[in-house]
Order: sequence, then structure tokens, then C-alpha cells
Amino acid sequence: MPPKPGPIERGGVARSFDAHARTYDKLVGSNPGYHAHLRLTAKRMGIPNRGRGLRLLDVGCGTGASTAALLDAAPEAEIIAVDASAEMLAQAHRKTWPRTVRFVHGNAENLAMSGIVGPFDGILAAYILRNLVHQDAALRQFHRLLRPGAPLAIHEYSVRDSLRSRVVWTMVCWGVIIPMARIRAGSTDLYRYLWRSALQFDGIKALTGRLISAGFEDIRVQTVPGWQQHIVHTFLGRRPPDPTAATAAPAAAADIDPEAITPAEGIDMTKPPA
Ligand SMILES: C[S@@+](CC[C@H](N)C(=O)[O-])C[C@H]1O[C@@H](n2cnc3c(N)ncnc32)[C@H](O)[C@@H]1O
Repeated sequence: MPPKPGPIERGGVARSFDAHARTYDKLVGSNPGYHAHLRLTAKRMGIPNRGRGLRLLDVGCGTGASTAALLDAAPEAEIIAVDASAEMLAQAHRKTWPRTVRFVHGNAENLAMSGIVGPFDGILAAYILRNLVHQDAALRQFHRLLRPGAPLAIHEYSVRDSLRSRVVWTMVCWGVIIPMARIRAGSTDLYRYLWRSALQFDGIKALTGRLISAGFEDIRVQTVPGWQQHIVHTFLGRRPPDPTAATAAPAAAADIDPEAITPAEGIDMTKPPA
């Protein structure tokens, strides 16, 4: 008898997505705000001129929800979208894309192995950093792949700094997401992992510090509207425009209040309230 699969671990997440690929879009589609929040994050990257003449990278593109958000923010850019799950990519391929969008099967921890080389004018990593084994190395890799001055957007659950966020997150996972996965996907392993991994992942201050250590500057953290407020965040950083600035003393992590009231468009949580 084959051994019973153990709990999902960070490094094996893409394999688990293979098994859930066919039901993924239905599940995230019933999550109010999922697509709108991805579009908000892509917009927050501030890609100029509809992306004309620019190259963007979507790391951990899955079935293409984050790719569609990038396309919405920069419809004229060339977009490379990479994922380690062949089945998630197969779902992405079933959709209609302009010729400027290319999907690549590869590991986000070593993009060069899949022939992905910079420079990029922007990188979006939505709901993937939490799943990587070597997160600091991945951030440094994104930094290297960016053109000086270009933005990185990490779109992620980050609940660790707020008791309220952890409680709401747990209630939504066990009250809605996990029961829905049981009905729609017939298995809850990936979604129990989702709950656990988000609780274990960096709080806002820790991830801000990691971005600074990886060489990013101009860090901004904003949350999203809806039940995900103070649960889902956009972490923005920029590769310094002047390559020599990367070696300057890092700025102190911004003072962030993870429970600040947020208007619909989100707020810059690194700035003191007016
Ligand atoms: C939660 S999904 C997010 C998909 C998409 N970005 C979105 O916003 O809907 C996470 C994706 O990351 C992919 N992934 C996980 N680990 C990966 C790795 N090491 N390299 C590339 N993709 C990975 C999974 O296969 C999955 O498709």
C-alpha cells in the first residue's frame, strides 16, 4: 500500500496545487474581492504608459488570476507568467490571452533554470512567497531580476501582527473556506495548509524588514477592503534607481499600525495617519 501523504509542506505546495487545479478558479471565484484585490495590487505597482515597451513577471501565476490583474494594469506590456504546477498552468492556458502573455513552467526559487532572465520592469508575486522554502533568497533573486527603479509587489496574507486579523482569518478559514473546499474539491488538505501557513507567515513588520534586507527601498504596505482588510496586503518595494544606493545603510523598518482603519482604496500604512 502506498504511504499516506503527510501534511503539505512549503516546498511541496506546487504538487498539491496540481491536484486542486480544476477546482481552484471556482473556489477563489466565490471569495468576494479575490480578483478585485489582485487588480488593486497590480495598479498599486504604478506601471506607466499602460506598460508599453515594458516587461513584467508574474511569479506563481497559477491559473492566471494574477496574470489577468497585471494585464488589466498594463495591457500593452509583455508578461511572463511562471508556475511550478503544470496543472495550474494547463488551466491558465484554457483562457484567452493576447500574444504578449507567455506562460512558463518553472520553479520560482530558481527562475534562471527555466530561462527566465531580467531585466523586468515590474514583478508581481501573489500568494506565493509564503509557500517558498528560501524566501530571502527568492526576494534577492527578484531584486536582481528587476531593472533599477522598478517595483516588486508581494500580494499576501499577513496576520501575525494583529490578534484581530488572526481571529477573523481562523473564523473565515474554518467557517467558510475549508467547508467549501470539502464540497467543491472533495479534499481540504490544501486549504488547511493555507490557514496554517498564513498564521505562520511573516507579520507586516517582519516582511517589511526582509524586503529592506533584500535591498528594496521605498517600501509601502497597504491592505485591501472587505473581510480581507488587515489580512491581505500589498507589499511594495522598489529596486533602488542608482545601483550604488543598494549598498547604502538600510532604512529602518517603517512604523506600521496593522489595525489602522482603511478606506476602500487602501492606505499607505507606512505613513502616519493625517
Ligand atoms: C495560491 S496560488 C496563487 C496563484 C495566482 N498568483 C493567484 O493569485 O491566483 C499559488 C501558486 O504558486 C505556485 N507555486 C508554489 N510554489 C512554487 C514554486 N516554488 N515555484 C513556482 N510556483 C510555485 C503554485 O503552484 C500555485 O499555482
